Amino acid sequence: MRKFIYGYLIYTVLLSVLLIINFSCSSSEGKKILSIFFDGVPQGENEKLAADSLLVSNENKKKQGNNKKRVVQQMFFHPPYQARECYNCHNLQAGNELIEQPPKLCYTCHEDFNNQFAVLHGPVASGYCTQCHNPHSSKLPKLLKRKGQELCLYCHEKSDVFKNEVHEDIDDTNCIECHNPHGGEDRFLL
Ligand code: HEC
Ligand code: HEC
Ligand code: HEC
Ligand code: HEC
Ligand code: HEC
Repeated sequence: MRKFIYGYLIYTVLLSVLLIINFSCSSSEGKKILSIFFDGVPQGENEKLAADSLLVSNENKKKQGNNKKRVVQQMFFHPPYQARECYNCHNLQAGNELIEQPPKLCYTCHEDFNNQFAVLHGPVASGYCTQCHNPHSSKLPKLLKRKGQELCLYCHEKSDVFKNEVHEDIDDTNCIECHNPHGGEDRFLL
């Protein structure tokens, strides 16, 4: 009886080792499991891919669309961030602090909205560009932090906006179909 139990135990251990080795040949999951048993199975590939993907342009990413391992989610990158020109905005010698605060920072490369509009939208005038834009990257086009009406209703009370009869029938029309998010001829930013 004892012999039988030992035999059975050895058999199951061998069988599971075989299963793990087999599994490891086809997947990186298996590698992780394998490395618990044997040290030295390289795991760095995924990390390297993640770092490299920062440099891969959106164009390239689209082309690789069918390679599921690389593409998790379409991302939009701010060109100076994608080019890793962090020094354009950060002082690398001084703990990464910004070399200039927005909006001045942004106007070193983008045209000053003061020269384009008679009236500026409140947060634009106050330089809160990063209330709406992510300075590095975003899942949304134009580096936006929120989509559609959400972007505006983050600050503007929904009930106030829809109280105004001009908004009665807009349903979920994007606010920027009528309003310019940065400025306009008069205070209504139309
Ligand atoms: C176009 C200008 C710009 C570039 C280029 C840029 N950053 Fe930033 N970064 C900012 C701004 C603006 C903030 C502050 C964000 C805020 O106020 O919400 C920031 C914030 C940060 C922070 C603070 C944490 C966070 O994410 O809010 C880190 C860390 C950072 N940046 C790292 C980097 C690195 C690394 C690079 C280069 C790969 C880089 N940045 C390139 C503008 C830039
Ligand atoms: C070092 C130069 C530089 C600085 C500083 C900079 N940008 Fe840009 N930004 C660019 C370039 C280059 C582009 C791509 C060409 C264009 O649209 O003008 C761009 C594009 C953009 C776009 C459009 C992205 C798209 O998908 O079309 C937004 C939004 C933007 N920047 C916001 C900002 C904000 C907000 C700041 C300040 C926090 C800022 N930028 C600071 C260089 C810069
Ligand atoms: C209230 C939200 C909001 C604020 C605040 C804001 N933006 Fe924008 N910005 C937008 C939206 C929305 C768009 C996209 C407009 C579109 O798609 O027509 C945009 C587009 C842009 C673009 C791309 C221009 C283009 O026509 O492609 C740049 C550059 C930009 N913003 C810079 C800035 C800078 C610099 C500031 C701060 C001075 C700022 N934004 C503040 C909402 C905002
Ligand atoms: C970061 C906060 C913030 C966001 C986001 C924001 N706004 Fe504003 N908005 C303000 C402030 C502050 C004012 C100026 C104070 C006021 O008049 O209510 C203002 C004023 C306005 C005005 C003029 C109101 C008046 O009576 O003069 C309009 C129109 C407007 N915003 C539309 C928009 C639209 C459209 C969006 C989305 C693209 C948006 N806002 C997103 C903060 C914001
Ligand atoms: C169909 C075009 C249209 C759309 C879409 C639209 N607006 Fe307006 N909005 C207007 C007009 C026109 C005015 C000027 C009203 C007046 O003359 O009293 C206005 C005025 C405003 C004002 C200032 C007056 C007030 O009611 O406080 C704010 C704030 C505003 N809009 C925010 C928004 C926001 C936020 C959205 C998206 C949820 C939006 N609008 C969508 C046309 C539009």
